[in-house]
Amino acid sequence: MCLRTDAIHFISGGDCGVNAHTVANNIQAARQDPMFAVVGGDLGYDNGRSVEISLAFLRNYSKHMIGRDGRLIPMVACIGNHEVDGGYNKPRAKAPFFYALFDGLFPNTGFATLDFGDYLSLVMLDTNHTSPIDGVQAAWLEKTLKARADHPNVFVVNHVPAYPSVRPLAGPYGKVGTGEGNRKHWVPLFQKYRVPVVLEHHDHTFKRTKPLLDGLAHDDGVLYLGDGSWGRLRTPNKPEKLTYLAASSRDYHLSLHRIQGQERFHLALDEFGKVMDACRTGQRKTGIVRARE
Ligand SMILES: [Fe+2]
Repeated sequence: MCLRTDAIHFISGGDCGVNAHTVANNIQAARQDPMFAVVGGDLGYDNGRSVEISLAFLRNYSKHMIGRDGRLIPMVACIGNHEVDGGYNKPRAKAPFFYALFDGLFPNTGFATLDFGDYLSLVMLDTNHTSPIDGVQAAWLEKTLKARADHPNVFVVNHVPAYPSVRPLAGPYGKVGTGEGNRKHWVPLFQKYRVPVVLEHHDHTFKRTKPLLDGLAHDDGVLYLGDGSWGRLRTPNKPEKLTYLAASSRDYHLSLHRIQGQERFHLALDEFGKVMDACRTGQRKTGIVRARE
């Protein structure tokens, strides 16, 4: 049982694959001796079709993700497009290896909450892979965040970012932009219920946004950390170009989160274990915030 003063530390990242960088980050992650690791989608890149790749990912993980006392570091995962044959808007049967492993947490849907008493809640979402962003999932998210409004620590984890560091916010020729569904259906709820941190992935960079309300910097805003470069890499936009970013870089990395009482510290570690970035998110103010309308 967690008490409200216990320190908890865990690793997060996403977009892993089975290459040498994935292994290097596994080794650095294990060195931190985290209580658990959160993988925010795109684990092995099995694409719902290759059990060999799914198994290779697990073999790598179980070989290197060993804590100081010899225990296997528990993995908590949410679904990404590369777990699914077809990527988006597919039935669960198209993500056979993900659901074979994680149906304990996700028995019926691609979204779920993992509660550590009333101290820490991980809210794991499905960015249109096997569950639509809107409708049932958005209604569930509101109910879930409302019920946890007085929990000191709530982390949201999703694969496709609301505030991407590489892909465009707006789609060309009327196509849907990256994170458009998140921004329409989820971000107002993150803001209303004062979610301090959202862990995002999929764009394969290191990114830290400013605390944001409706895409603009605000002291009461939500911090978005990403963007999934455990074993995949792209070149991000710079903060000078994308004003919602506070920092970005082209580095393989993982995040180390330390929760102490009602304060959260977030370090970004590169694949050699060097600290690239550090920030803090403070106490959640009680009650809900009225986002700009
Ligand atoms: Fe992805």
